[in-house]
Order: sequence, then structure tokens, then C-alpha cells
Amino acid sequence: MPLSVKHLLGIKDLTLQDIELIFQTADNFKEVLKRPIKKVPTLRDTTIVNLFFENSTRTRISFELAEKRLSADVINFTASASSVKKGETLIDTVNNILAMKVDLVIMRHSACGAPHFLSKHIQAAIVNAGDGINEHPTQALLDSFSIREKLGDVKGKKVAIVGDITHSRVAMSNIYCLKKQGAEVTVVGPPTLIPKYMAEAMGVNVTYNLREALEWCDVANVLRIQLERQNMPLFSSLREYNLFYGISRELLDGLHKEIIIMHPGPINRGVELNSDVADSKQSIILQQVENGVAIRMAVLYLIAGKKAEN
Ligand code: NCD
Repeated sequence: MPLSVKHLLGIKDLTLQDIELIFQTADNFKEVLKRPIKKVPTLRDTTIVNLFFENSTRTRISFELAEKRLSADVINFTASASSVKKGETLIDTVNNILAMKVDLVIMRHSACGAPHFLSKHIQAAIVNAGDGINEHPTQALLDSFSIREKLGDVKGKKVAIVGDITHSRVAMSNIYCLKKQGAEVTVVGPPTLIPKYMAEAMGVNVTYNLREALEWCDVANVLRIQLERQNMPLFSSLREYNLFYGISRELLDGLHKEIIIMHPGPINRGVELNSDVADSKQSIILQQVENGVAIRMAVLYLIAGKKAEN
């Protein structure tokens, strides 16, 4: 059974069957990654370009590693070191790269909808690696895959998404992904960092009280404050943010149960998460990173297979 989509632009477009297919495929690739030789010839004749118009460490390395584990030919493009700086348009940049016969484009861009726009103008399949504040589908898939691995299932689980909801593509993709799988979602943060329409439009619970959300949830997915996307002050200081919305050991120890702590990275230690929480046994942050490679191998394999069909 193939995916229902040609491109992976957002979780919004996926069916529950797509999500389950990606997880089952990732289970198989996770086995491959445990072998002494972690490489398979699956994408041997496929050329993939990683088009990164915005900074990235883990997502970019994770995609590149996934591509190399599948034996694809890989080209890396960083906007800051390219002709984009000389005024070239997005379509011109991409068409020049595609003239070199590229099959798949992995794209990160600061503008919402950039990969959707591109998908209407080029033949290659596109995987969105984060577009502005819109979506970051592979992050949400690896987050849910990590919850499934830890708790057996995502269905029926209670997940709190904590922090800067307004500026977070990770929050958006996670909400779509968790809701499609039948999880319950609460968003929690300062009122200035949660969009007003959230509860009605996205079908989530909203609270401004961190302790209340943590008492309720099985899993807390904690987000970074996206200062680079905020063009006006939305809270008094990082110190005050940490006081009200940072997760400390003391706060976790005061709960009536043990919850799981997740974070997409990069962490701002001492702001949204204190170090004794980030590095504790409750945190599955490094498992998320590890699962990211298997999830991206699954997505690349399924999207490349879908492209071959067309
Ligand atoms: C996230 C991103 O870039 O959207 N990071 C990531 O991909 N691992 C979250 C963030 O930057 O805070």
C-alpha cells in the first residue's frame, strides 16, 4: 500500500493509514540501524538535494544520514553560501539544481508555504523539513513514533505541548499528528504565546497553568521560545519565563506521577527546561534524535517509491 500523497508537505494532508505505514516502515529501518552494517541499497539510483534556506543542525544531519544509509546520492545546498545572496529567485535556484537531474528535494525555508509553492512548479518530489511557523512534518512523525515506542500506542494518550505555540511549526505538526492518531492534546504557555483560535480551530485544550497541564498529561513536549520569529516582546524576561513556564526537577517531583519529557531541540537550558530535567531518565530527547533517522529513511523510501509510480 503506497502513501496517499506525492509530496510530504505537512501532516495535515496525511491519512491515519499514511502515518501507520510510515511507522511500520520506520520499525524495519530501525532494525537496519542496529546492524553492524547500517546501510541498504534501497535508493541507490536516487539523487536527493537538501535545500536549506534556514539554519539547522539536527534536522539536516538526520536527513543526510538517512539518505546515506539508503545509498542515495546527496547534494547539500545552504542558502547563506549560494547565489540566493546574489538575488536569485527560489524557482530559478531550484530549477538550476533540478536541471542536474535531482529526484527528491528536502526543503527548509523561513516562509510558510514555500515547499507547497515549489511543488506546483517542479517535477521532483518534495519533503518539507520546516516552513516558517507552518509545519515540520518529520519532527511530528518522529515525536509520535517515540511516544509509541515508549508507551506502546499514541491513541488515548494525553500530550501537553508547552511554550511558544504561536511561532512553532513543531506544535502545529504535532497537533495534527497526535489528533489523527486519537491522542488528547493540551497546549500550555503564556497567553501571549498561544493563538486565540487554538481551542476551536485545532480541537485542543488550552491552559495557561503549567502545573495543571503536567498533572494531566502522560507526555510533555516542550518547545523552544522562537525569539527569532517574535518581532515584539511577548513576555518580560527569559528569567520570568523560566519561573512560570520552565520545567524544573522540583516541579516534576511534586507531581503525582512520572511523565515523559520531550523536546525537538535545540534546548535553551535554564529557559524552557532545566538541565536536571533535560538530562534525567524521564527525558527521551536523545531517543527522539535517534528515531529521527529511521523516520526520515521511511519517509524518503515511501516518497521515492510513490514518485517512481508516477
Ligand atoms: C525545530 C525547528 O527547527 O523547527 N528544531 C528541529 O527541527 N529539531 C524547533 C526549534 O527550532 O526550536
